[in-house]
Amino acid sequence: MSTKKYNVGIIGYGWAATAHIDAINKTSQAQVTAIYSSRPLDSAALSAKHGGQIKAYQSVEALLADPDIHVVDITSYPSQHCAQAVAAAKAKKHIILEKPMANSLAEVMQIFEAAEKNGVKGCVCFELRFSGQMLSTQAIIDQGLLGEIHYGEVDYYHGIGPWYGQYRWNIGKKDGGSALLTAGCHALDGLLMCMPGEVDSVMSLSTKSKSAYFTPYEYDTSAVTIVKFKNGAVGKCAAIVDCLQPYYYRTHLMGSHGSLLDNKLHSEKLKSDKTKWSTLSMKMCDSGDVNDHPYQSQFEAFFEALAQGQDMPLTSFRDGLRTFKVIFAADQSAANGGQPVKVA
Ligand SMILES: NC(=O)c1ccc[n+]([C@@H]2O[C@H](COP(=O)([O-])OP(=O)(O)OC[C@H]3O[C@@H](n4cnc5c(N)ncnc54)[C@H](O)[C@@H]3O)[C@@H](O)[C@H]2O)c1
Repeated sequence: MSTKKYNVGIIGYGWAATAHIDAINKTSQAQVTAIYSSRPLDSAALSAKHGGQIKAYQSVEALLADPDIHVVDITSYPSQHCAQAVAAAKAKKHIILEKPMANSLAEVMQIFEAAEKNGVKGCVCFELRFSGQMLSTQAIIDQGLLGEIHYGEVDYYHGIGPWYGQYRWNIGKKDGGSALLTAGCHALDGLLMCMPGEVDSVMSLSTKSKSAYFTPYEYDTSAVTIVKFKNGAVGKCAAIVDCLQPYYYRTHLMGSHGSLLDNKLHSEKLKSDKTKWSTLSMKMCDSGDVNDHPYQSQFEAFFEALAQGQDMPLTSFRDGLRTFKVIFAADQSAANGGQPVKVA
Protein backbone atom coordinates (compact mmCIF):
# COMPACT_ATOMS: atom_id res chain seq x y z
CA MET A 1 0.00 0.00 0.00
CA SER A 2 1.17 3.49 -0.80
CA THR A 3 1.73 5.83 2.10
CA LYS A 4 1.04 8.96 0.11
CA LYS A 5 -1.37 11.30 1.84
CA TYR A 6 -4.16 11.95 -0.66
CA ASN A 7 -6.25 9.49 -2.68
CA VAL A 8 -7.63 10.95 -5.90
CA GLY A 9 -10.69 9.77 -7.82
CA ILE A 10 -10.81 10.81 -11.49
CA ILE A 11 -14.10 11.61 -13.23
CA GLY A 12 -13.93 11.09 -17.01
CA TYR A 13 -11.30 9.02 -18.73
CA GLY A 14 -10.13 10.81 -21.86
CA TRP A 15 -6.95 12.56 -22.91
CA ALA A 16 -6.75 15.05 -20.02
CA ALA A 17 -7.45 12.27 -17.50
CA THR A 18 -4.46 10.19 -18.58
CA ALA A 19 -2.16 13.24 -18.38
CA HIS A 20 -3.53 14.02 -14.91
CA ILE A 21 -3.08 10.43 -13.68
CA ASP A 22 0.62 10.43 -14.63
CA ALA A 23 1.16 13.86 -13.06
CA ILE A 24 -0.69 13.00 -9.82
CA ASN A 25 1.13 9.69 -9.42
CA LYS A 26 4.47 11.46 -9.91
CA THR A 27 3.82 13.77 -6.96
CA SER A 28 5.06 12.69 -3.54
CA GLN A 29 1.70 13.63 -1.98
CA ALA A 30 -1.02 11.75 -3.88
CA GLN A 31 -2.04 8.76 -5.94
CA VAL A 32 -4.98 7.92 -8.16
CA THR A 33 -7.12 5.21 -6.57
CA ALA A 34 -10.38 5.41 -8.52
CA ILE A 35 -11.66 6.29 -11.98
CA TYR A 36 -15.24 6.90 -13.08
CA SER A 37 -16.14 6.49 -16.72
CA SER A 38 -19.47 5.97 -18.44
CA ARG A 39 -17.65 3.27 -20.38
CA PRO A 40 -17.07 -0.01 -18.49
CA LEU A 41 -13.45 -0.11 -17.32
CA ASP A 42 -11.62 -2.97 -15.63
CA SER A 43 -9.95 -2.25 -12.25
CA ALA A 44 -7.13 -4.74 -12.82
CA ALA A 45 -6.36 -3.35 -16.29
CA LEU A 46 -6.38 0.25 -15.01
CA SER A 47 -4.08 -0.67 -12.11
CA ALA A 48 -1.70 -2.48 -14.46
CA LYS A 49 -1.65 0.46 -16.88
CA HIS A 50 -1.23 3.31 -14.40
CA GLY A 51 0.31 1.59 -11.36
CA GLY A 52 -1.07 1.27 -7.84
CA GLN A 53 -4.55 -0.01 -6.99
CA ILE A 54 -7.23 1.70 -9.07
CA LYS A 55 -10.91 0.90 -8.66
CA ALA A 56 -13.19 1.45 -11.65
CA TYR A 57 -16.56 3.03 -10.91
CA GLN A 58 -19.50 3.26 -13.27
CA SER A 59 -21.39 5.88 -11.31
CA VAL A 60 -20.23 9.26 -10.04
CA GLU A 61 -22.38 8.76 -6.92
CA ALA A 62 -20.58 5.53 -6.01
CA LEU A 63 -17.16 7.15 -6.48
CA LEU A 64 -18.19 10.13 -4.34
CA ALA A 65 -19.50 7.77 -1.63
CA ASP A 66 -16.05 6.15 -1.28
CA PRO A 67 -14.77 7.45 2.08
CA ASP A 68 -11.14 6.73 1.13
CA ILE A 69 -11.17 9.34 -1.65
CA HIS A 70 -10.01 12.79 -0.55
CA VAL A 71 -9.79 14.63 -3.87
CA VAL A 72 -11.96 14.39 -6.98
CA ASP A 73 -10.43 15.34 -10.33
CA ILE A 74 -13.01 16.34 -12.97
CA THR A 75 -11.85 15.83 -16.57
CA SER A 76 -15.24 15.21 -18.19
CA TYR A 77 -17.02 17.20 -20.91
CA PRO A 78 -17.39 20.87 -19.93
CA SER A 79 -21.21 20.65 -19.80
CA GLN A 80 -20.88 18.05 -17.01
CA HIS A 81 -18.43 20.03 -14.86
CA CYS A 82 -20.97 21.99 -12.79
CA ALA A 83 -23.18 19.13 -11.61
CA GLN A 84 -20.16 16.91 -10.88
CA ALA A 85 -18.19 19.63 -9.05
CA VAL A 86 -21.19 20.63 -6.90
CA ALA A 87 -21.82 16.95 -6.05
CA ALA A 88 -18.13 16.50 -5.17
CA ALA A 89 -18.21 19.54 -2.87
CA LYS A 90 -21.35 18.23 -1.14
CA ALA A 91 -19.53 14.91 -0.63
CA LYS A 92 -16.74 16.97 1.08
CA LYS A 93 -14.12 16.11 -1.53
CA HIS A 94 -11.51 18.64 -2.56
CA ILE A 95 -11.67 19.32 -6.31
CA ILE A 96 -9.31 19.52 -9.25
CA LEU A 97 -11.37 20.94 -12.13
CA GLU A 98 -10.37 21.09 -15.78
CA LYS A 99 -11.00 24.27 -17.73
CA PRO A 100 -13.45 25.67 -18.50
CA MET A 101 -14.77 25.55 -14.92
CA ALA A 102 -18.25 25.49 -16.51
CA ASN A 103 -20.07 26.97 -19.47
CA SER A 104 -21.91 29.85 -17.74
CA LEU A 105 -21.11 32.33 -14.99
CA ALA A 106 -24.11 31.09 -12.99
CA GLU A 107 -22.63 27.57 -13.02
CA VAL A 108 -19.14 28.81 -12.08
CA MET A 109 -20.72 30.69 -9.14
CA GLN A 110 -22.58 27.52 -8.08
CA ILE A 111 -19.29 25.60 -8.02
CA PHE A 112 -17.49 28.37 -6.12
CA GLU A 113 -20.28 28.68 -3.54
CA ALA A 114 -20.64 24.89 -3.07
CA ALA A 115 -16.90 24.63 -2.37
CA GLU A 116 -17.01 27.54 0.11
CA LYS A 117 -20.11 26.18 1.88
CA ASN A 118 -18.69 22.68 2.24
CA GLY A 119 -15.18 23.78 3.25
CA VAL A 120 -13.41 22.13 0.32
CA LYS A 121 -10.57 23.57 -1.76
CA GLY A 122 -10.33 23.84 -5.53
CA CYS A 123 -7.69 23.78 -8.24
CA VAL A 124 -8.62 25.06 -11.74
CA CYS A 125 -6.48 23.59 -14.53
CA PHE A 126 -4.98 26.85 -15.72
CA GLU A 127 -1.68 25.00 -15.46
CA LEU A 128 0.07 27.43 -17.82
CA ARG A 129 0.44 29.68 -14.76
CA PHE A 130 2.96 27.06 -13.56
CA SER A 131 4.79 26.88 -16.92
CA GLY A 132 8.41 27.94 -17.25
CA GLN A 133 7.38 30.72 -19.65
CA MET A 134 4.82 32.25 -17.28
CA LEU A 135 6.94 31.79 -14.15
CA SER A 136 9.87 33.58 -15.86
CA THR A 137 7.50 36.27 -17.14
CA GLN A 138 6.18 36.80 -13.62
CA ALA A 139 9.72 36.96 -12.23
CA ILE A 140 10.64 39.65 -14.78
CA ILE A 141 7.57 41.66 -13.76
CA ASP A 142 8.32 41.14 -10.05
CA GLN A 143 11.94 42.32 -10.54
CA GLY A 144 10.53 45.60 -11.88
CA LEU A 145 12.29 45.16 -15.24
CA LEU A 146 9.17 46.24 -17.14
CA GLY A 147 8.14 48.95 -14.66
CA GLU A 148 4.40 49.60 -14.50
CA ILE A 149 2.60 47.70 -17.25
CA HIS A 150 0.15 49.92 -19.13
CA TYR A 151 -0.54 47.61 -22.09
CA GLY A 152 -0.37 43.85 -22.48
CA GLU A 153 -1.32 41.24 -25.07
CA VAL A 154 -1.59 37.53 -24.36
CA ASP A 155 -2.90 35.54 -27.30
CA TYR A 156 -3.76 31.91 -28.02
CA TYR A 157 -3.38 30.51 -31.54
CA HIS A 158 -4.17 26.80 -31.90
CA GLY A 159 -6.06 25.33 -34.83
CA ILE A 160 -8.44 22.76 -33.33
CA GLY A 161 -9.53 20.97 -36.50
CA PRO A 162 -10.47 17.36 -37.31
CA TRP A 163 -6.87 16.31 -36.64
CA TYR A 164 -7.30 17.07 -32.92
CA GLY A 165 -9.00 14.65 -30.47
CA GLN A 166 -11.31 17.18 -28.82
CA TYR A 167 -12.76 18.23 -32.18
CA ARG A 168 -15.61 15.68 -31.91
CA TRP A 169 -17.19 17.56 -28.99
CA ASN A 170 -15.45 20.92 -29.32
CA ILE A 171 -17.43 21.83 -32.44
CA GLY A 172 -20.69 21.89 -30.43
CA LYS A 173 -21.83 24.96 -28.52
CA LYS A 174 -22.89 22.76 -25.58
CA ASP A 175 -19.34 21.65 -24.70
CA GLY A 176 -17.08 23.93 -26.75
CA GLY A 177 -18.92 27.08 -25.70
CA SER A 178 -16.84 29.76 -27.43
CA ALA A 179 -13.30 30.35 -28.70
CA LEU A 180 -12.46 31.94 -25.36
CA LEU A 181 -14.09 29.28 -23.21
CA THR A 182 -12.73 26.22 -24.94
CA ALA A 183 -9.08 27.21 -25.24
CA GLY A 184 -8.49 30.96 -25.35
CA CYS A 185 -9.26 30.97 -21.61
CA HIS A 186 -5.59 30.03 -21.04
CA ALA A 187 -4.50 33.28 -22.69
CA LEU A 188 -7.09 35.50 -21.01
CA ASP A 189 -6.02 33.91 -17.73
CA GLY A 190 -2.36 34.58 -18.59
CA LEU A 191 -3.19 38.24 -19.31
CA LEU A 192 -4.85 38.56 -15.90
CA MET A 193 -1.84 36.88 -14.28
CA CYS A 194 0.51 39.50 -15.82
CA MET A 195 -1.93 42.36 -15.22
CA PRO A 196 -3.47 41.66 -11.80
CA GLY A 197 -5.42 44.96 -11.48
CA GLU A 198 -9.19 45.00 -11.19
CA VAL A 199 -11.03 44.77 -14.51
CA ASP A 200 -13.51 47.53 -15.29
CA SER A 201 -15.02 46.34 -18.57
CA VAL A 202 -14.40 44.35 -21.74
CA MET A 203 -15.32 44.55 -25.39
CA SER A 204 -14.99 41.65 -27.78
CA LEU A 205 -15.53 40.87 -31.46
CA SER A 206 -15.65 37.43 -33.02
CA THR A 207 -15.51 35.86 -36.46
CA LYS A 208 -14.90 32.54 -38.17
CA SER A 209 -12.53 31.06 -40.75
CA LYS A 210 -13.91 30.17 -44.20
CA SER A 211 -11.91 26.91 -44.17
CA ALA A 212 -14.05 23.75 -44.45
CA TYR A 213 -12.17 22.26 -41.47
CA PHE A 214 -13.99 24.69 -39.20
CA THR A 215 -17.43 24.76 -40.88
CA PRO A 216 -18.95 22.27 -38.36
CA TYR A 217 -18.29 24.64 -35.46
CA GLU A 218 -21.54 25.97 -33.97
CA TYR A 219 -19.85 29.16 -32.74
CA ASP A 220 -17.33 31.77 -33.86
CA THR A 221 -13.84 30.29 -33.58
CA SER A 222 -11.82 33.54 -33.55
CA ALA A 223 -12.35 36.24 -30.93
CA VAL A 224 -10.43 39.30 -29.85
CA THR A 225 -11.08 40.93 -26.50
CA ILE A 226 -9.99 44.32 -25.18
CA VAL A 227 -9.80 44.54 -21.41
CA LYS A 228 -10.04 47.90 -19.64
CA PHE A 229 -8.55 47.88 -16.15
CA LYS A 230 -9.73 50.21 -13.36
CA ASN A 231 -6.18 51.63 -13.07
CA GLY A 232 -6.37 52.77 -16.72
CA ALA A 233 -4.24 49.97 -18.18
CA VAL A 234 -5.43 48.13 -21.31
CA GLY A 235 -5.05 44.49 -22.27
CA LYS A 236 -5.83 42.47 -25.39
CA CYS A 237 -6.43 38.75 -25.87
CA ALA A 238 -6.88 36.94 -29.17
CA ALA A 239 -8.44 33.49 -28.88
CA ILE A 240 -8.04 31.77 -32.25
CA VAL A 241 -8.95 28.10 -32.62
CA ASP A 242 -9.43 28.15 -36.41
CA CYS A 243 -5.91 29.10 -37.54
CA LEU A 244 -3.66 27.03 -39.82
CA GLN A 245 -0.24 27.54 -38.24
CA PRO A 246 1.85 26.12 -35.40
CA TYR A 247 0.53 26.48 -31.85
CA TYR A 248 1.51 29.88 -30.48
CA TYR A 249 0.95 31.24 -26.97
CA ARG A 250 2.02 34.85 -27.37
CA THR A 251 2.85 37.33 -24.62
CA HIS A 252 3.72 40.98 -25.27
CA LEU A 253 3.87 43.29 -22.27
CA MET A 254 4.75 46.97 -22.27
CA GLY A 255 5.67 48.97 -19.19
CA SER A 256 7.33 52.16 -18.03
CA HIS A 257 10.82 50.56 -18.02
CA GLY A 258 10.70 48.07 -20.88
CA SER A 259 8.92 45.41 -22.92
CA LEU A 260 8.76 41.64 -23.00
CA LEU A 261 7.81 39.83 -26.22
CA ASP A 262 7.60 36.08 -25.49
CA ASN A 263 11.21 35.33 -24.46
CA LYS A 264 12.64 38.64 -25.75
CA LEU A 265 13.29 41.45 -23.32
CA HIS A 266 14.34 45.05 -23.37
CA SER A 267 14.62 46.88 -20.05
CA GLU A 268 16.11 50.29 -19.40
CA LYS A 269 17.02 48.87 -15.99
CA LEU A 270 19.55 46.56 -17.67
CA LYS A 271 21.02 49.39 -19.79
CA SER A 272 20.86 47.10 -22.81
CA ASP A 273 20.60 48.28 -26.44
CA LYS A 274 16.98 49.25 -27.22
CA THR A 275 17.43 48.61 -30.94
CA LYS A 276 17.80 44.86 -30.34
CA TRP A 277 15.96 42.37 -28.14
CA SER A 278 17.87 40.38 -25.55
CA THR A 279 16.78 36.75 -25.73
CA LEU A 280 16.11 34.88 -22.51
CA SER A 281 16.32 31.15 -22.02
CA MET A 282 12.77 30.11 -21.10
CA LYS A 283 10.79 26.89 -21.44
CA MET A 284 8.11 28.12 -23.84
CA CYS A 285 4.47 27.02 -23.98
CA ASP A 286 4.71 25.85 -27.56
CA SER A 287 2.19 23.03 -27.91
CA GLY A 288 -1.49 22.37 -27.26
CA ASP A 289 -0.62 18.91 -25.97
CA VAL A 290 -0.68 18.32 -22.28
CA ASN A 291 2.73 16.68 -22.16
CA ASP A 292 4.62 19.97 -21.96
CA HIS A 293 2.04 21.45 -19.60
CA PRO A 294 3.12 21.63 -15.98
CA TYR A 295 0.31 19.68 -14.35
CA GLN A 296 2.68 18.02 -11.89
CA SER A 297 3.97 21.21 -10.31
CA GLN A 298 0.45 22.64 -10.25
CA PHE A 299 -0.91 19.57 -8.46
CA GLU A 300 2.03 19.57 -6.03
CA ALA A 301 1.17 23.16 -5.13
CA PHE A 302 -2.48 22.14 -4.64
CA PHE A 303 -1.67 19.19 -2.38
CA GLU A 304 0.78 21.33 -0.40
CA ALA A 305 -1.93 23.97 0.11
CA LEU A 306 -4.42 21.26 1.18
CA ALA A 307 -1.96 20.07 3.79
CA GLN A 308 -1.77 23.65 5.10
CA GLY A 309 -5.57 24.06 4.96
CA GLN A 310 -5.13 27.00 2.58
CA ASP A 311 -6.22 28.05 -0.90
CA MET A 312 -3.61 27.11 -3.46
CA PRO A 313 -1.46 29.81 -5.08
CA LEU A 314 -2.25 31.06 -8.63
CA THR A 315 -5.09 28.69 -9.61
CA SER A 316 -7.59 28.48 -6.73
CA PHE A 317 -11.32 28.56 -7.43
CA ARG A 318 -11.23 32.27 -6.48
CA ASP A 319 -8.53 32.90 -9.14
CA GLY A 320 -10.57 30.91 -11.68
CA LEU A 321 -13.74 32.83 -10.86
CA ARG A 322 -11.94 36.14 -11.55
CA THR A 323 -10.88 34.93 -15.00
CA PHE A 324 -14.23 33.39 -15.93
CA LYS A 325 -16.12 36.56 -14.93
CA VAL A 326 -14.08 38.39 -17.57
CA ILE A 327 -14.54 35.60 -20.14
CA PHE A 328 -18.33 35.49 -19.82
CA ALA A 329 -18.50 39.29 -20.02
CA ALA A 330 -16.34 39.16 -23.18
CA ASP A 331 -18.60 36.53 -24.77
CA GLN A 332 -21.64 38.68 -23.92
CA SER A 333 -19.93 41.64 -25.61
CA ALA A 334 -19.13 39.58 -28.73
CA ALA A 335 -22.76 38.40 -28.88
CA ASN A 336 -23.80 42.07 -28.87
CA GLY A 337 -21.44 43.11 -31.67
CA GLY A 338 -18.69 44.45 -29.41
CA GLN A 339 -20.69 46.60 -26.97
CA PRO A 340 -18.61 47.16 -23.80
CA VAL A 341 -19.72 45.04 -20.85
CA LYS A 342 -18.93 45.97 -17.23
CA VAL A 343 -17.28 43.24 -15.19
CA ALA A 344 -18.95 42.90 -11.81
N1 LIG B 1 -5.88 22.39 -19.26
C1 LIG B 1 -5.59 21.96 -20.45
O1 LIG B 1 -4.59 22.35 -21.03
C2 LIG B 1 -6.50 20.96 -21.13
C3 LIG B 1 -6.05 20.16 -22.18
C4 LIG B 1 -6.94 19.25 -22.74
C5 LIG B 1 -8.23 19.12 -22.26
N2 LIG B 1 -8.63 19.93 -21.25
C6 LIG B 1 -10.00 19.85 -20.71
O2 LIG B 1 -10.21 18.55 -20.17
C7 LIG B 1 -11.56 18.14 -20.36
C8 LIG B 1 -11.56 16.83 -21.15
O3 LIG B 1 -10.89 17.04 -22.41
P1 LIG B 1 -10.08 15.83 -23.12
O4 LIG B 1 -9.03 16.47 -23.97
O5 LIG B 1 -9.69 14.81 -22.13
O6 LIG B 1 -11.20 15.28 -24.07
P2 LIG B 1 -11.52 13.76 -24.44
O7 LIG B 1 -12.38 13.85 -25.63
O8 LIG B 1 -10.30 12.92 -24.52
O9 LIG B 1 -12.37 13.28 -23.19
C9 LIG B 1 -13.54 14.00 -22.82
C10 LIG B 1 -14.60 13.08 -22.26
O10 LIG B 1 -14.94 12.13 -23.26
C11 LIG B 1 -14.87 10.80 -22.71
N3 LIG B 1 -14.40 9.94 -23.78
C12 LIG B 1 -13.19 9.94 -24.36
N4 LIG B 1 -13.14 9.01 -25.33
C13 LIG B 1 -14.36 8.44 -25.36
C14 LIG B 1 -14.94 7.42 -26.13
N5 LIG B 1 -14.24 6.78 -27.07
N6 LIG B 1 -16.23 7.08 -25.87
C15 LIG B 1 -16.93 7.71 -24.90
N7 LIG B 1 -16.43 8.69 -24.15
C16 LIG B 1 -15.17 9.04 -24.37
C17 LIG B 1 -13.90 10.90 -21.58
O11 LIG B 1 -14.15 9.91 -20.61
C18 LIG B 1 -14.17 12.29 -21.04
O12 LIG B 1 -15.26 12.25 -20.13
C19 LIG B 1 -12.26 19.30 -21.07
O13 LIG B 1 -12.86 20.13 -20.10
C20 LIG B 1 -11.11 20.04 -21.73
O14 LIG B 1 -11.37 21.41 -21.95
C21 LIG B 1 -7.79 20.83 -20.69
